[in-house]
Amino acid sequence: MLTLDFHPTGRHFLQIPGPSPVPDRILRAMSLPTIDHRGPEFGVLGLRVLKGIAQIFQTRHPVIIYPASGTGAWEAALANVMSPGDPVLMYETGHFASLWIKMAARLGLKPEVLTLTGKDDRLPDAAGWRRGVQADMIEARLKADTQHAIKAVCVVHNETSTGVTSNIAAVRKAIDAAKHPALLLVDTISGLASADYKHDEWGVDVTISGSQKGLMLPPGISFNAVSPKAIEASKTAKLPKAFWAWDEIIEMNKTGYWPYTPNTNLLYGLAEACDMLLAPENGGLEGTFARHVRWGEGVRSAVRAWGLEIQCADPAVYSPVLTGVMVPDGVDADAVRRLIYERFDCSLGTGLGKVKGRMFRIGHLGDCNDLTLMGALAGCEMGLKLAGVKLAGSGVQAAMDFFAGHPAPVALQKAA
Ligand SMILES: Cc1ncc(COP(=O)(O)O)c(C=O)c1O
Repeated sequence: MLTLDFHPTGRHFLQIPGPSPVPDRILRAMSLPTIDHRGPEFGVLGLRVLKGIAQIFQTRHPVIIYPASGTGAWEAALANVMSPGDPVLMYETGHFASLWIKMAARLGLKPEVLTLTGKDDRLPDAAGWRRGVQADMIEARLKADTQHAIKAVCVVHNETSTGVTSNIAAVRKAIDAAKHPALLLVDTISGLASADYKHDEWGVDVTISGSQKGLMLPPGISFNAVSPKAIEASKTAKLPKAFWAWDEIIEMNKTGYWPYTPNTNLLYGLAEACDMLLAPENGGLEGTFARHVRWGEGVRSAVRAWGLEIQCADPAVYSPVLTGVMVPDGVDADAVRRLIYERFDCSLGTGLGKVKGRMFRIGHLGDCNDLTLMGALAGCEMGLKLAGVKLAGSGVQAAMDFFAGHPAPVALQKAA
């Protein structure tokens, strides 16, 4: 039985798709003394993080930083641009999309849910949880909305519960093709700084993200990147907003400050994370994305060698952030996870909502490298065998072959 004073030797393998491991360099940056959040030193820090995070979102427009988890930033996005009773078109790709839909209803909006309902042999009740957003369904629905009653389209970029990364540029194209004025709201809480994301180029109006995934920070800060159209909409939107309201924050951010007490030490960490992610010697953002794509390919090669099914059924939208692994019918994925945790000190993501007990998730994001992934995959393989799951072959061997046979570009080799 585990107790709170359980201290195994070596590093815990935190292989969940966020919170992800925090690099020592960021932990050290956060250990600096807390400073006066109204003093001159803070203004320098504030301006530095606001500039850095805008580069990460690939935007020239404001990014709001909240001392809150991602859920808070979801609420902030809706509260700033919506009015009570507004119809919103929300696409269900998985558990997190469904939680956002629930929140919209609780806020007094009228969510209309789109999802793929076709046949899926492994998940007959959740075909939409194995594929990305179908932009053509959005286009068709918006074309039918001739009165332009729908005020926003809400989609999740990287669905953390399944391991699917939807094509946001295609959603933008669908909205434009329908000539519809709806705002585009995108959750990339687990995609930012791991999967390519272009807030401006993709014409997103509000992008929501959080600190505890690709940014390699602890949980506790979250973001709204906002377009000029979203800022305009916020001036007339009628849902009550006070703490979340963008206007005062944007105004004070001009000099590097916030209207309330920001979480200073997490911002030290954010400044460090931006430096690390943007550093040309690490390959910059392109290098960051390429690292994750390669890790994802390595992990999927292991899953295929085990003879297990990848939750994402469409290779075009495989997530570079995490891989969902479906276990054979009759196996309890959570029991396998527990065994791997207890025997090998490795945390894997649980199946959420509709897929609870039917799959587990391997995170391959942030501060990891080929060997941390090999360790995690070894933990999985040993645990699956101990749990009596019949494997077709060695995923560890397949991943070793992949990583050895596909070296990272030279510029990236020391980047992780
Ligand atoms: C895609 C996605 N959306 C929303 C959330 C909720 O964020 P938080 O748990 O930080 O409130 C998460 C958390 O994992 C997520 O992965």
